[in-house]
Amino acid sequence: MDTRLPLLLLLAGVVAAAAPLLATAQLSADFYSSTCPNVEKVVSTVIERKFKEDPTTSALLLRLLFHDCFANGCDASILIDPLSNQSAEKEAGPNISVKGYDIIDEIKTELEKECPQVVSCADIVALSTRDSVRLAGGPNYDVPTGRRDSLVSNREEGDSLPGPDIAVPKLMAQFSEKGFSADEMVVLLAGGHSIGKAKCFFIEVDAAPIDPTYRSNITAFCDGKDGDKGAVPLDPITPDVVDPNYFELVMDKKMPLTIDRLMGMDARTKPIVESMGKKTDQFDATFGKAMTKLSGMKVITGKDGEIRKSCSEFNNPVNTDDGPSVIRISSLNPEEMMGSFAPATGKSPSAASESRKVAPGGAMEERMAAGEAKTDASGGAMAERLAAGEAKTAAAASEDENQAAGDEAAAEEEGTKSNKKKAERVTAEVPADEAAPAAKKPRAMGGQSFSMAGAGAGGEPAKKSTAMKSQSFSMASQPQQ
Ligand code: HEM
Repeated sequence: MDTRLPLLLLLAGVVAAAAPLLATAQLSADFYSSTCPNVEKVVSTVIERKFKEDPTTSALLLRLLFHDCFANGCDASILIDPLSNQSAEKEAGPNISVKGYDIIDEIKTELEKECPQVVSCADIVALSTRDSVRLAGGPNYDVPTGRRDSLVSNREEGDSLPGPDIAVPKLMAQFSEKGFSADEMVVLLAGGHSIGKAKCFFIEVDAAPIDPTYRSNITAFCDGKDGDKGAVPLDPITPDVVDPNYFELVMDKKMPLTIDRLMGMDARTKPIVESMGKKTDQFDATFGKAMTKLSGMKVITGKDGEIRKSCSEFNNPVNTDDGPSVIRISSLNPEEMMGSFAPATGKSPSAASESRKVAPGGAMEERMAAGEAKTDASGGAMAERLAAGEAKTAAAASEDENQAAGDEAAAEEEGTKSNKKKAERVTAEVPADEAAPAAKKPRAMGGQSFSMAGAGAGGEPAKKSTAMKSQSFSMASQPQQ
């Protein structure tokens, strides 16, 4: 064997790990000092007002930033509205329930008045997320600026984002490819999932071990009047505060999303969760550092890309035969979105509520195959539930088909060319085996089957509380927007 090989591999690893840092190095603290000196003030004024009106602002922006940055870099590609003949990252399954675009637009409007076409949308996303995390009680981390906006926005990039029941080794591989260590991955999840909510649609109580009382509460809530559109807090103790509660919640198996519960059970991540849970005083510093790195991932700088005039469209949008007819996803009726997209994912809301109890495929199956899965939470009844889930698939699938057909008809009736074209495009993109899901098992949420059928619908920093109270929690349903 070539004795230089281990050295070369080591060097390759070091270069890969340094990639995001190199990109961050092209950014600077005083990038707008002469071209738009008030940029930070303008951003923080809008964010403080938004946060005062609605503290969930922080969760919306933090998720938006993660989804933009993790899908090919922090380049504002997630903000682009799809055109009638061109899809965009925003339409990808994992992005359908992402919100906060209106907040970025509002800041952009203010900045365009002050210094036209100077501040990039990518910088606005990074700065506004930093401010909203600080207001929610999190760290005030560094966000150097100088990002430029992308000239492309691909739906496929968004589709590659991890789903909530992705297996831990796969998730670690995804983070590692992007230059993040396992510790950084865990702390990003910990901070990110310490605020905000998860819709019942995304929750599978049997896909990983879970606290029995917590399980009953979740199941009772999610089987309630709002069904899959209801949403439960990720951190029931301090749902709007960025704090280190995550670690204890994970170890207690009291988190709604499968991936978070898996973090506390996988042999690679469990020791990290335990160790970080013992050093909560270091959380702000560690999370802040990881956020600076995430916010600087694969940024576009210098003469590349552009500074958009409007964050939701390129400066020179591709002209179509019918003119640049922009479909604004945010203006579509959520029911319409659910229907339009259901065939592509093979999952209807009713199928989703079944999968809350049934966890075929995805991480659980992988772990079972690897002999890693414990049967404690899912118990011996797993096989029975799998069988029950399969029996219900045909009904769920035919519901999907009916819903999709209904939406196409509705789009046509409305006479809006853009809506009709979109319906056509969505149908055209459905692979043959997906278009007839009746013969398939109900799909788990994770991996790339992350479905969007669940899409539905102020100023003082929040107070921290790391004290763990009893696990009773109010599961307010997600307000419709
Ligand atoms: C790495 C794997 C991750 C997966 C699989 C994942 C998945 C999810 C899912 C399924 C939801 C619920 C969405 C909904 O109900 O609409 C969610 C919510 C959220 N995620 Fe993640 N996430 C991950 C990492 C992160 C990271 C790294 C951050 C930020 C640093 C983050 C921030 C958030 C926030 C703030 C929410 C709440 C959003 C809201 O209330 O609207 N997530 N995540």
